[in-house]
Amino acid sequence: MTIRPIKLQLLVHQEQPLNAEPPGDLLCQSFLTPRQHFFIRTHGSIPAVNPASYRLLITGLVQRKQGLSLNELRSMSPTHTVTATLECAGNRRDELMAVKPIRGEVPWRAGVIGTANWRGIPLREVLQAVGVEAGARYVAFTGLDEAQFEGEKVHFGSSIALEKAFSPEVLLAYEMNGEPLAPEHGFPLRVIVPGYIGARSVKWLREITLQEHASTNPYQARDYKLFPPEITARTADWSRGKAIENLILNAAITTPQEGETVAAGPTRIQGYAISGEGAPVERVELSVDGGKTWTTDKIVERADPFAWCFWEVMVALSPGDCQVIVRAWDASKRTQPEDVRQLWNFKGYMNNAWHRVNIHVS
Ligand code: MTE
Repeated sequence: MTIRPIKLQLLVHQEQPLNAEPPGDLLCQSFLTPRQHFFIRTHGSIPAVNPASYRLLITGLVQRKQGLSLNELRSMSPTHTVTATLECAGNRRDELMAVKPIRGEVPWRAGVIGTANWRGIPLREVLQAVGVEAGARYVAFTGLDEAQFEGEKVHFGSSIALEKAFSPEVLLAYEMNGEPLAPEHGFPLRVIVPGYIGARSVKWLREITLQEHASTNPYQARDYKLFPPEITARTADWSRGKAIENLILNAAITTPQEGETVAAGPTRIQGYAISGEGAPVERVELSVDGGKTWTTDKIVERADPFAWCFWEVMVALSPGDCQVIVRAWDASKRTQPEDVRQLWNFKGYMNNAWHRVNIHVS
């Protein structure tokens, strides 16, 4: 793994396709993640798109099929800004990989997550303008990028249910933190589906299709599904796997980092927490005695309802080896599973076990 030198301060897991995350200690430096610290998850190429000739196709069960320029899109509705956290379903996969190998997947740490102010046009305004026909139940998105899926060339794609597509927070975004989208984040236009795993927020958006069924794109139909631990790549029946949509309750320690040495005495521990739709993070707790006792952390920054929150706590540490553990609780009074071994699945998704960081106190 290399550190990208100049603009992007990211740990690069893979150059082609580009897959990179910030080192954990850079992740929570600011509530809105700057471009140089924002993870990049690609399955294929990063297309170079000419914004002047760009057209967004709207097809399927709509009254008026369209090919819309960026200016036409912008004139359809007032812009809207949403503060939302994008989190990949593979966040914290490295801990699942330590339980049992997971083949062919990126060994993400806890950094495949980032928050931005996304500015764009609410998807529902566009859908209302083109007129959705009766019978449409899903909105499918297709990107301009080309990826290899089991040896075949495909465009990345996904879908969401029509009901979610009509939620005010779902955007066709063209700005991230006040700047045009960067090429690696989907310039000139991407979908942002707050509250859902990052895979539904299709970048370099080429086409929106209204249809009766969920997308048959392999990244929706044969990927990003959750299987029980006994299922393997060979035994998986993809039609029975459960598509992952909503984010789930999760929390991670970003300071200190695994293996770090810290001085004995009062020590500041920091990190992020995030919850699923409709049940905000209510409490974050820290343990330094294997989960026997917990200290409640202070939530220092939050922006409900689709963004992470930052927490911190001061704990008195004595010399020796120490495991620091964090877990969050949400407003439905649910908390995270204790043991990562219960969560193993052959694709390595949705690890939200207690996050444990081993440090040395000197
Ligand atoms: N859109 C396209 N067209 N191609 C992709 O590979 N990756 C998805 C999603 N949208 C992807 C895509 C995944 S898995 C995630 S987690 C997010 O984009 C990552 O967004 P980011 O790279 O801007 O952080």
